Amino acid sequence: MKTKMQDEVVYGLEDVCINTTKLTQVDGIKGRLYYLGYPIEDIIKNNYSFEEVAYLFLHGRFPRAKQLKEFKDELSSERELDIRLKAILILTPQKGNLMALLQGMIAQLAMYDPEIADRSTEAKRRKALRIIARMPTAVTFFHRVRSNLDPVAPKHELSHAGNMLYMLTGKTPAKAEEDVFEKALILHMDHECNASTFASRIVASTEADIYSSVIAAIGALSGPLHGGANERVLRMLREVRHQYGDDPSKYIEDCIKDKKKIMGFGHRVYKTTDPRATILRKLAKKLIKTEEQLKELKFAENFADTVLKKLQESGKTTIYPNVDFFSGVVYEMLNLPLDFFTPTFAIARVVGWIAHYFEQTSDNRIYRPRLKYIGPKLR
Ligand code: CMC
Repeated sequence: MKTKMQDEVVYGLEDVCINTTKLTQVDGIKGRLYYLGYPIEDIIKNNYSFEEVAYLFLHGRFPRAKQLKEFKDELSSERELDIRLKAILILTPQKGNLMALLQGMIAQLAMYDPEIADRSTEAKRRKALRIIARMPTAVTFFHRVRSNLDPVAPKHELSHAGNMLYMLTGKTPAKAEEDVFEKALILHMDHECNASTFASRIVASTEADIYSSVIAAIGALSGPLHGGANERVLRMLREVRHQYGDDPSKYIEDCIKDKKKIMGFGHRVYKTTDPRATILRKLAKKLIKTEEQLKELKFAENFADTVLKKLQESGKTTIYPNVDFFSGVVYEMLNLPLDFFTPTFAIARVVGWIAHYFEQTSDNRIYRPRLKYIGPKLR
């Protein structure tokens, strides 16, 4: 029987639509991003909270006051970890990788979830809230233990963003820091069919549970070409500043000459500046408290501008800073540990993964593409 298999291989599935979505629209030419039709710039300007935007993704509309209160209460009441999960975190190797830790923790949450076998939409929503609420608790708990500090219990009255900073440091964050952190989380919440969201959709399409879908997505996000880039941006900036002082030109020229990728630059869809990078660059300025932070930010901005200029001069006119460049800078200014950068991306993006899980399973067909055989001659 003849199949419809196409001869042409689309490497990296560039520009291939694998489904429809009502969630997020990315215009890569104009550099625009919309969450359920709302421009990201408006969402940030209007000071929506993490909880409001999460509700938007999970319910398809912004909440009214009463709905928001109920949603916030439900989310914050799910923050605490079962004592057995805390025991696992205490026994986890202290030098372990935080993305692996998150994957393991989500698997453990599944093990202890009394509703694991309940496939009703309502149970799925409760499971979704548990995952979103507990990821920050797991990483901050682990960090406190590995730093020989007492873990800090979640505080019900704090926002999702404020509570994560509180559990990390033991101090209620200053308003400006909480605000910038919350906006950074919102900016990372969803981004159409990026690799991790695709991974979450693939797993969802097999009718596996929501936990499995999130675990797969975390794995995809951890790679340096995806969410792992933000941590590498900071390592690169630190190293270059250490080695070359205030002028990064030589490093950048060498990268371009040697065809070495510069972290935090380039995007499969954006052929201009990523709008999230533009917003994060402005937000970083709100965090300057010391001379050193001012210098660090100036160095990062000069680095980004120099990369752009030198890439353009070399004929590469479609490679611009992406979200990971300035999120790395913002997280550094917020004093997040370096290995928290990508987990923080996951803690925000999990809302998107889950929204896509629901969208995929609401009108599902299993993903089963083809690989074109180029192996040994068939015998
Ligand atoms: N620095 C220097 N050159 C680059 C870069 C970069 N960051 N990104 C792409 N190029 C060049 C690349 O060398 C290639 O050149 P040529 O045509 O001469 O071989 C051309 O641009 C196309 O690159 P590509 O790798 O084929 O593009 P892609 O669409 O497959 O990959 C990307 C997109 C984001 C993986 C890539 O730009 C990259 O590796 N960037 C660095 C890592 C990074 O910042 N990742 C974060 C992505 S955005 C948010 C997220 O997903 O987390």
